[in-house]
Amino acid sequence: MRLDDSPAKIRVLFVCLGNICRSPTAEGVFRQQVRALGLDDRVEIDSCGTGGWHIGEPPDARAQQAAKQRGIDISGLRGRQLCQEDFSRFDVVLAMDHDNLAELERWMPADSQASIGLLMEWAGEPGAAVPDPYYEGGFDRVYAMIERASQALAAELEQRLEAAR
Ligand code: 4NP
Repeated sequence: MRLDDSPAKIRVLFVCLGNICRSPTAEGVFRQQVRALGLDDRVEIDSCGTGGWHIGEPPDARAQQAAKQRGIDISGLRGRQLCQEDFSRFDVVLAMDHDNLAELERWMPADSQASIGLLMEWAGEPGAAVPDPYYEGGFDRVYAMIERASQALAAELEQRLEAAR
């Protein structure tokens, strides 16, 4: 992950295909983990989809339910599509699967400083993908994968931000 030596703030963007299942789940879970560490004012969080079919829509009811069962409310989030400005606005851009990552590589401007990669790398699972649950289901498994990877990411960001204090 490429970041300034002493970042005052770190901006993280989660990316999936539709922005109604995996990435809004990651946004909600990570937001709560960051808040629990007292870092809400130092970490900016958002999510988006590489596709534009669900712009303006709330998260899928199954994703909302999986999060709600763990005390996380993602009902207020709305779908949006990835844009070129995201590569200058965010420091860390994390894809759920290899297709999303390939799209990031395609969209990324040559002069972008953003660090892009797969979310599951943060769980010590290089090359692993969070599977698309839209047709196949598996929302509980998806939630668990996202939770462990984003927890590790939150711990790493905490260290970097502490070092910058
Ligand atoms: P997501 O899931 O990428 O995790 O939000 C999907 C949502 C919608 C579709 C595909 C995947 N879709 O084809 O509409």
